[in-house]
This record gives sequence, C-alpha cells and structure tokens, in this order.
Amino acid sequence: MSWLVEAKDLKRHYAVSRGAFREAATLKAVDGASFTLARGKTLAVVGESGCGKSTLARMVAMIEPPTAGQLEIAGKRVDGADAATLSALRPKVQMVFQNPYGSLNPRQKIGAILEEPLLVNTSLPKGQRTGKARAMMAAVGLRPEHYDRYPHMFSGGQRQRIAIARALMLEPDVLVLDEPVSALDISIQAQVLNLLAELQQRLNLAYLFISHDLSVVRHIANDVMVMYLGKVVEQGRAQDLFAAPQHPYTQALLSATPQADPEKKRQRIVLKGELPSPLSPPSGCAFRNRCPFAVEACAASAPPLVRAGATEAACIFPHRKG
Ligand SMILES: Nc1ncnc2c1ncn2[C@@H]1O[C@H](COP(=O)(O)OP(=O)(O)O)[C@@H](O)[C@H]1O
Ligand SMILES: [Mg+2]
Repeated sequence: MSWLVEAKDLKRHYAVSRGAFREAATLKAVDGASFTLARGKTLAVVGESGCGKSTLARMVAMIEPPTAGQLEIAGKRVDGADAATLSALRPKVQMVFQNPYGSLNPRQKIGAILEEPLLVNTSLPKGQRTGKARAMMAAVGLRPEHYDRYPHMFSGGQRQRIAIARALMLEPDVLVLDEPVSALDISIQAQVLNLLAELQQRLNLAYLFISHDLSVVRHIANDVMVMYLGKVVEQGRAQDLFAAPQHPYTQALLSATPQADPEKKRQRIVLKGELPSPLSPPSGCAFRNRCPFAVEACAASAPPLVRAGATEAACIFPHRKG
C-alpha cells in the first residue's frame, strides 16, 4: 500500500512568551500523531477546540513545518525538505477552511477566484483557465451566471462550494478540510457533506477531515483520530470507533451526539471540570481531571496508545474489570 500521507510521531511545539522576566513556556499543540491516509479515503480528526486540529492541518498542508517526527506526502519527505521540494509538493495538498467568508477575496468575482491558482501555478492561457473554472463550477453545483458574481452575493453553503472549487483547481490529491461545515446550518451541512462525498468518489481524493463534532464525520470517515490537548487518545477504523469507543473521552464525545436508533441510546457522559490550559496540562494522562474513571495511577505517566478492542486507545482502563 502506498500512502498519500504518512505521519510518524508528528509534533508541533510553540515557544510561548510569559512576559519579560519569565522563561518562555512550551505549548505542545500537537504532541505525537502517527497516521496514514490513502487515495480515495477519509481520515477524520476530532476533538474540542484547542486540541491541535488546525495545527495538524497546517503541517499536512505544508504551511508550517513539524517540530519533530516524520511526514511523507506522495512518497516524499516533507520534514526538513528544501524550499524547491516543498513548492513542488504544495499543489498536491489544498485546504478548505471553516469560514468561507474570510477565505474568499471580496473584491474578486467567482471566475477570477477560481482561475487565480491556474494563473499563479500554470502557464495555461486565459481561455483554458476559464474553461476549467466553468467546468469546476458545474462540478460543485454552481450555475454558469455565478461566474461574474462576487462572494457576498452567495449564501454560506454556496460560498463553501466556491472554496471547494478553488481548492480543486490544481487537481490536488489531498484536501485538508478544517471544520468545512461547522459554520453552516444543519440542512446545508448535509448538502456540502454530500458534495464532498461525491467529489471524493469522482476524483479519488484523500480527505483529512477536521471537525469538533463526531456526528459530522460519521458517514464520511474511513478512519478516525480523536485528539485531546495535542495527544491522540484514540484512533481506528470509523466503524469500530463508533460501534465500540474505547477511550472515556471518545465515549463522552459520542454520548453527546444524537442517536438515530433509540434502542442503542447511550447514557450521556457529562465531563466534569474545565479543559486544562495547554501550557500546564495535568501530569500523566492529560484527560484525568475530567475523566469519570480516573484513579491515582492515571497521574503517574501518560498512557501510550495501545490496542483496545478494535481500536487503539491511550488509557489504562481503570473502569474495566478483569
Ligand atoms: N502560532 C501559535 N503560537 C502559539 N500557540 C499556538 C499557535 N497556533 C496554535 N497555538 C495553540 O496550540 C493549541 C492548538 O491550537 P489549534 O491547532 O488551533 O487547535 P484546534 O484547531 O483543535 O482548535 C492551542 O492551545 C493554541 O492556542
Ligand atoms: Mg481549529
């Protein structure tokens, strides 16, 4: 199997100033993520705000270099790569952001927005750029007359279609989707998710799909990685993780999502306490101050990811008997 993206123990740490007279602190935004992503597949990255999802996205999109670990994209090493290697690889990975209002230039018409990546990165003449833009507009469900309109003339869902179209103009292999539907109404979310699923099939795209909401990724994810304060706490195949989540944090996230089948209604797990500051996470397991099952041993050392049931989870499982 050749992976489009392969990450090994990927880390991104930030030095954060704490004022003139104190040493800078280290904020471990992503602290050891390992995963693979294959053509045509979706890896979902899930967790609360501040757990490191966007930082991971920026590393995979080659916007920021990792502090440590290995990252390979389309068979090429990205960590420590020179500028020429990175600029050759960058078109292969494109990003779509949560906020389609902020990411589209309000002074450009849709046609110009879609043609710009071709203008910058290719030598295609204007006629061909326009042809490709128009074809892409049709592919994402925009109408021909939209070509001459400005972003503010569109609804949130349509703007996200424009952002997706722009991301696809250079025919990337990977889309990094950072909360692509989080700003949209529920009914519009479903339409955009359906469009993404259809485009993935048609173009054989790999998605790194980021969401703070597990229920959003249920139907689109092949694999799921759950993060908490920069660490991966559980990962595995989506069907396994949804059927039998192993880590108490995943269980809590899942218990908060609506259940279609009332027979399988889960007991709602309400997390106690606040999300700790990422600058001073608890010792041992960073989740322990909010975990309903925490015991003294959880403070001793950070549990490694180990096989648990059908997934991998970072927990000593004090709640399991035998
Ligand atoms: N450039 C930066 N400098 C310092 N800290 C940062 C920087 N970018 C992100 N962080 C911190 O890293 C952590 C993870 O942030 P982020 O990746 O944006 O999380 P998420 O996308 O899951 O909300 C947060 O505590 C955030 O404040
Ligand atoms: Mg984010």
